[in-house]
Amino acid sequence: MSIQNTRGVPLAKKPLVEKLDVLSAHSPSHTHTMSNPNIPQKSPIVKKMPAGTYWWCACGLSKDQPLCDGSHKGSGIAPKKVELTEEQTVAWCGCKHSADGAFCDGSHKGL
Ligand code: FES
Repeated sequence: MSIQNTRGVPLAKKPLVEKLDVLSAHSPSHTHTMSNPNIPQKSPIVKKMPAGTYWWCACGLSKDQPLCDGSHKGSGIAPKKVELTEEQTVAWCGCKHSADGAFCDGSHKGL
């Protein structure tokens, strides 16, 4: 189906549904899944962290990487709790594809 004006002249070469599909594929509200989280960066975020409880962003949508800022709501992906019993330097996964959860395992090299 094509869109036509009142004189029957086509206004669009592609069907409207196809154009909507293209728009939704690039919409910021499209759903990220556990197997397809957003990728903030393809390298670890290395930080010296004091002892404490942290919530690592697993969806990749947080503006406060590598930690959760609540942006995951509606994404279907929950943050991961990390407890550090002492101060340590952590290589947080920044690509959200590590098999080791919050911690970089080198998986970013394959992205
Ligand atoms: S940053 Fe994700 S595995 Fe290295």
